[in-house]
Amino acid sequence: MIKTVEWTDEGVRMIDQRLLPVEEKYVMLRSYDEVAEAIKEMVVRGAPAIGVSAAMGIALGTQQAVGTSVDDLQQDFDYICDVMAATRPTAVNLFWAIERMRAAFGRAKAETQDVEEIKQLLVKEARKIFDEDIASNRALGRFGGELIPDGATVLTHCNAGALATAGDYGTALGVIRGARDAGKRIAVIADETRPFLQGSRLTAWELAKDSIPVTIITDNMAGHIMKQGKVDAIVVGADRIAANGDTANKIGTYMVAVLAREHRIPFYVAAPISTIDLKLSSGDQIPIEERNAREVTHIRNQQLAPDGVEVHNPAFDVTPNELVAAIITDKGVARQPYTETLRKLIAS
Ligand code: MRU
Repeated sequence: MIKTVEWTDEGVRMIDQRLLPVEEKYVMLRSYDEVAEAIKEMVVRGAPAIGVSAAMGIALGTQQAVGTSVDDLQQDFDYICDVMAATRPTAVNLFWAIERMRAAFGRAKAETQDVEEIKQLLVKEARKIFDEDIASNRALGRFGGELIPDGATVLTHCNAGALATAGDYGTALGVIRGARDAGKRIAVIADETRPFLQGSRLTAWELAKDSIPVTIITDNMAGHIMKQGKVDAIVVGADRIAANGDTANKIGTYMVAVLAREHRIPFYVAAPISTIDLKLSSGDQIPIEERNAREVTHIRNQQLAPDGVEVHNPAFDVTPNELVAAIITDKGVARQPYTETLRKLIAS
């Protein structure tokens, strides 16, 4: 099993995703600000993995707080939560995990005034979020696996696998693993996913490790491959799903969804309930992260564009709900009209 992020006695341990697939290196983060920096710098990335890491970072930082009163601890805790919230804006799992930790602090404070006990309860909550993420991806993998026919070739964009979650199954790749574990023969086409190359570097790496057949294409090949009839289904992850089913995911996902409609290929979104943001009525309200120009102009230290050129680097786009055939969650599969079905699933 790929261990994306782990709680240890020494700190939070992560695989450094910037170095994959060339180097499999683990880093030990010993303070909350190291965890926050790791999220910002994409040592760890992928919506659920960001949420789990932030929860662990909050638990770690609070554990190291020196104040002796509950009020002091609360102050430090609130500050750490704010630092985590400022790391990346689009994936709602980050804010969901912070809310979970805030609620856990509230419950702990109502139970005890012992600072050490409160710290332990926060560690317990962060570990629970980790365990729940693994379990929910297994569940959505089972639901989603049923939608994929035996012998199918599935196209995916970015990395929504073990590396994008607490580990193990992943979301979009969880659906593929769910189908495989149900005895189906599945092949995957992985979009390279410029500019950060999560598809070619991460998805191909983890599928190859899992002996699932995978072929990489560059992003601009997707239309051609679909027109040739080589894609039976598309499954992607999500960073935030609005109440109407509009879905923010890695930049380029929208382009794939439009092509899927043109070629009558089902386009599925796979995400745990923690990715659904009922507070937003539509995808227009989802904040889109703009990242550093260097991600576009360089690959590692190799320059690809002229010095000083203008660059636009939005990290995500929003796919309108009418292009989404189904949203596969850990509580079941939602179909149109999402405004009703997503609410029902969450309440179930
Ligand atoms: O910028 P990233 O690598 O964090 O973006 C990741 C994605 O867009 C994933 O598809 C999404 O978070 C779903 S991960 C299960």
